[in-house]
Amino acid sequence: MTTMSMDRIRIRGGHRLSGEIAISGAKNASLPLMAAGLLTEERLVLSRVPVLADTTTMGQLLAQHGIAVERITNDGHTLSLGGAITNTEAPYDIVRKMRASILVLGPLLVRTRQARVSLPGGCAIGTRPVDLHLKGLEQMGAVIELDGGYVNARAPQGLHGATIVFPMPSVGATENLVMAACLADGRTVLANAAREPEITDLCDCLVAMGAQISGIGTDRLTIDGVHALHGAHHEVIADRIETGTYACAAAITGGALHLAGGRMDHLGAVTRTLAEAGVEITETPTGLDVRRMNGLHGVDAITEPYPGFPTDMQAQYMVLMSVAEGASLVTETIFENRFMHVPELNRMGANINVHGKSAIVRGVPYLSGAPVMATDLRASVSLVLAGLAARGETIVNEVYHLDRGFEAVEQKLAACGADIERIPG
Ligand code: EPZ
Repeated sequence: MTTMSMDRIRIRGGHRLSGEIAISGAKNASLPLMAAGLLTEERLVLSRVPVLADTTTMGQLLAQHGIAVERITNDGHTLSLGGAITNTEAPYDIVRKMRASILVLGPLLVRTRQARVSLPGGCAIGTRPVDLHLKGLEQMGAVIELDGGYVNARAPQGLHGATIVFPMPSVGATENLVMAACLADGRTVLANAAREPEITDLCDCLVAMGAQISGIGTDRLTIDGVHALHGAHHEVIADRIETGTYACAAAITGGALHLAGGRMDHLGAVTRTLAEAGVEITETPTGLDVRRMNGLHGVDAITEPYPGFPTDMQAQYMVLMSVAEGASLVTETIFENRFMHVPELNRMGANINVHGKSAIVRGVPYLSGAPVMATDLRASVSLVLAGLAARGETIVNEVYHLDRGFEAVEQKLAACGADIERIPG
């Protein structure tokens, strides 16, 4: 899974899903947690890390910084990280594959007082600047220059604490600055910080490594720098986006699924929105039970920072709405260009019109299978959902997007009755 897969996925729609799906560890928690391995020379053991193209890429990035990254269990889900930083440059060739590479900047800078990290550039879902990461580090004493597509950062006196008020919550900037602040001199306050469950998971791990952080889970984090962090063992939280995605899969096929390990308290606005649309989610001792009540109804959704409706669920939710009764308005406020799945869904018979930041989805009685392709990872899984519900055969191309973020998607769905298979490319 290290090279870009040209595989395709074939789905024959119309099968109700039933059974159990084990939810994997969260990709977007694992990536910053792996970057936290740069904060200590001792061993950081992370369990429940999903085996995905993106976690493999992060492993490669850390390895070239000098950190030994080993998968120490047969299932590949437990990673051991450790070692000294021998190289402080994050090269374009790795960063261009995965924007989350920028998360090494804060840790490298606070540990070695210098870092050179390729600028990630734009991507399919929007321009996605990193100015908030850089400004925060400057407030902590870094001197930053942009040169030849790289961020050159130095902190000759080391980083010091600062009060940083974000103009808007940013997941990645909050993570970068929390990691840097753990080893900076003095107190850092991050106000209007993002408070996604992945950030809470990172903070919990940092505390286990000896960091002093208060306000965890809120939008105001206070971090008192310490001299060194030590090793720890941390289990990654279950992936809330994968959970929500399979909840939509159960609903759209009129089925019922048990999502083992799924957590209601991480779903935020998703639970309420799906409930209004006619999808029941109940918590059990081992996870979540999801089933569709009667019909699906059109319900509006607007993407917002956590605990609002996640942008990473917008495409999947739109597929559900495309076969619901009535119309719904789906508004994207986080990324400016995250409707690329719409033309593909319309080719499958959906009736969706985009007007600026909003899409009007008018429910249709059924979707029809078609060859489709995706431009980002959440869009590609939305096409898989559409294929599960559609009449006939759907071929999803450009599957490497899917492989970045969904572990064993075709095995998990096939085990619950979907007619889905990977066609090697
Ligand atoms: C994280 O991206 C996730 N990635 C994204 O998931 C997710 O969509 C996003 O958060 C929002 O929830 C990871 O966790 C690895 P942001 P991130 O900084 O950190 C603007 C997926 O599919 N902004 O919270 O990059 C930015 O343009 C991915 O798994 C600035 O203006 O998101 C956006 O409009 C896609 N300047 C908003 O803030 C900055 O310096 C929120 O972005 C940083 C961000």
